[in-house]
Amino acid sequence: MRILSIETSCDETAIAIIETTSDLPHCAFKILANQTLTQIELHKQYGGVFPMMAKREHARTLVPLLKVALKEAGLYKETSRHVIESPLRKEFEHMLLREPELYAQFIADVPNWDPPQIDMIAVTSGPGLEPALWVGINFAKALSLVWKTPVIPINHMEGHMLTPLLEPTADGMRLMETLFPVLGLLVSGGHTELVLMKTWGTYELLGETKDDAVGEAFDKVARILGLPYPGGPEIARLALLGTGGKYTLPRPMLHAENFDFSFSGLKTAVLYLAKDIGVLSDEQKQDIAREFEEACAEVLTKKTRRASEEYGARMIVVGGGVSANKRLRDTLVETMRNEGSSVPVYFPGATLSTDNALMIAIAAATRQGQKPQSLDHIIANGNWRITSVLT
Ligand code: KG4
Ligand code: ZN
Repeated sequence: MRILSIETSCDETAIAIIETTSDLPHCAFKILANQTLTQIELHKQYGGVFPMMAKREHARTLVPLLKVALKEAGLYKETSRHVIESPLRKEFEHMLLREPELYAQFIADVPNWDPPQIDMIAVTSGPGLEPALWVGINFAKALSLVWKTPVIPINHMEGHMLTPLLEPTADGMRLMETLFPVLGLLVSGGHTELVLMKTWGTYELLGETKDDAVGEAFDKVARILGLPYPGGPEIARLALLGTGGKYTLPRPMLHAENFDFSFSGLKTAVLYLAKDIGVLSDEQKQDIAREFEEACAEVLTKKTRRASEEYGARMIVVGGGVSANKRLRDTLVETMRNEGSSVPVYFPGATLSTDNALMIAIAAATRQGQKPQSLDHIIANGNWRITSVLT
C-alpha cells in the first residue's frame, strides 16, 4: 500500500510517501519520499510560532513541496488531460474556499499532473495549531477529490510515539518487535505526557503537564537568556559548556505521588535568577542552561522510571522534539541502568525527534484495514487526545 502523509500542525510543512510491504506487527515500508520544510527562520524574528503566519506559510509551500515529494518518489508525471471537471470542480472550490493562496496554486498545478498511484492520504488532524492543521486537512481533502483516494486523520502525538519503535531494514524501515505495555514519554513544544500503550492504537494517559510543556519551557528560558527560537537546541549547546552545581533550580512535582508535571515555575525561577544577577555573562548563561537542563531531565527521568515500575512497562519510548536532548537521553538510560532496570529505552533516529511526515505515514500504516471516513467528518482538533485515536 502506498501512503502519502501531510503534516502541518505547527511550524514544519512536511510530506512523505511510503510503500508498505507488510501489515502489523511490523508494518515494514520503503521510504519513497520524505520532505520537511521548516519555518524556523520566519518565526525566529518573533521569538515563537505565530499561528496565522504558520498557516499562511503552509498554504504557500504545500503544492511545491508535494511536487518535490512526487518527483523524489518517481511518481510525478504531467498529463495532457485536465483532471478537474464539473461538478467536482464546484465541490473542490468549496473545499479550498478558506485557503485562497493554496487554491490558486492547486488549481494551476495539480490538475495537470497524472494522478499518482497512492492508496491512502494520511493527514495530521490534531493536536496542534488549528489554523495550521486546517490547511493540511483541506489540502488532503482536495487531493482526495482529484485523485479519488481516501483520507485518514492521524494524531500527531501518536506519530511521535511510534518513531522510536522504527528500526532500519535492508530496503527501508519497520516497527521493531513490540512488547506491550509500552510506556511513552512524549515531550514536545506543546505536550509533556506519560502514556501507556496497551496495544496498537490503545493508550492510557498516566500524567501530563499542568501548565507549560517542557519544550515550551526550553523556548521561554532561551528567550530569557537572549537565545533565538527554538530554544531547545540552543540551551543544549550552551549547557554543554556549563558547570554543574553553580545554581540550584527547583525540580517541580518531583515527589508528587502522581505522574503529572509542571514547568512554568521552573521557567519563572530562571527569570528571577536572571533578574537578580542583572547582566548575564556568557559563563553564567552556560551554568544556568546546564542547571535548567538537568532539572528537566531529572524530573522527566524519575517520573518515567516510577511509571515504568508501577505499570509493568516492557519497553520505554521517548518521542517529540525534546527527545533529541542528549542530557535527557543519557540521564534516562543511566538511571534505568543504575537502578537495575532491564526495561529497554528507545529514542527516535536522527531527524525523527522533531516534526516530520514520516511519523504520520507510519501511524497510518498501523491503521490499514480501518474503514475510511467521509471527508466531512475529518476536522482539525487542536486538543485531540492520544487516548481517543480509535474513536
Ligand atoms: O515535536 P516538535 O518538533 O514540535 C511540537 O510538536 O511541538 O517539538 C519542538 C520542541 C521545541 O520546543 C524545541 O525547543 C524542542 O522541541 N527541542 C529540544 C531540542 N530540539 C528541539 N529541546 C531540548 N533539546 C533539544 N535538543
Ligand atoms: Zn511534534
